[in-house]
Amino acid sequence: MTITTRQIGPCFAAEVEGLDLRKPLSPDEVAAVHAGMDEHAVLVFRDQRIDDAEQLAFSRSLGELEHAIGTSLRAPDEYRLPTTFADVSNLDQHHQVFARDDRRRLFAIGNRLWHSDSSFKAIPAKYSLLHARSIPSRGGNTEFADMRAAYDALDDETKTEVEDLICEHSQIFSRQQLGFTDFTDEERARFAPVRQRLVRTHPSTGRKSLYLSSHAGGILGWPVPEARAFLRDLVEHATQRQFVYAHRWRVGDLVMWDNRRTMHRARPFPVHEPRDMRRTTLVGTPTVAQVTATS
Ligand code: OGA
Ligand code: MN
Repeated sequence: MTITTRQIGPCFAAEVEGLDLRKPLSPDEVAAVHAGMDEHAVLVFRDQRIDDAEQLAFSRSLGELEHAIGTSLRAPDEYRLPTTFADVSNLDQHHQVFARDDRRRLFAIGNRLWHSDSSFKAIPAKYSLLHARSIPSRGGNTEFADMRAAYDALDDETKTEVEDLICEHSQIFSRQQLGFTDFTDEERARFAPVRQRLVRTHPSTGRKSLYLSSHAGGILGWPVPEARAFLRDLVEHATQRQFVYAHRWRVGDLVMWDNRRTMHRARPFPVHEPRDMRRTTLVGTPTVAQVTATS
């Protein structure tokens, strides 16, 4: 069966038909998925009853996996899933829903802010693949914003202003916005800021996009409040409804997005209901050289 895509979002995002993710992809199918990603940036695969091994195999057929080590507040013995997965659920290692005030849950609420995955890493994420194993009775949508359309819609003066700006990204900055500040010294060291360009050029399409994220907390050479106000204005611009696709989950959906040209955010859902979402992630490429701290 040939693969078909049907656009479902305003200027991006498409549903894919004709692929069974339980089976290995042919080279032609791999090429078609990448081409679909280049065109639509978000691809939705419905009714995919895959297990962890099948999700890993599909992800690996598209590129190199990113490992989720030390990026959450789970201690090493509190992982529910292997580090080939980012555990996007609200479940502890015994599959119990986190208590409302659990620190690990409160940290994960950071996903409700618009962000791009792993922008806080020197090598940020390329694609993310999120699979729904169980979903709450209501709420819990994921929204996506097209950062290429948002860039294109900037006026020329702003395009010139942002062109060479470098931002600092850290999970401390994103959590600070929500009033979550009780990090240990070890966590502060682990979450030290990295640099990212504010404008990225997509390697396949040559198109520019804004590289924004809740993790961005400063612009090199700018006073912090001015930088944050400016970044906030850009996020407000980039997440206007005409740039946003909202995904309503069904169990078995796999949604894949290109972090280089989209942002996304989780929406709230009832606190005590399980939501089991498992993410595999492909590594991307650095946007700028890091400067290592000198002692
Ligand atoms: C993610 C993420 C949003 C959601 O998987 O990276 O931000 O709705 N998920 O769970
Ligand atoms: Mn995310």
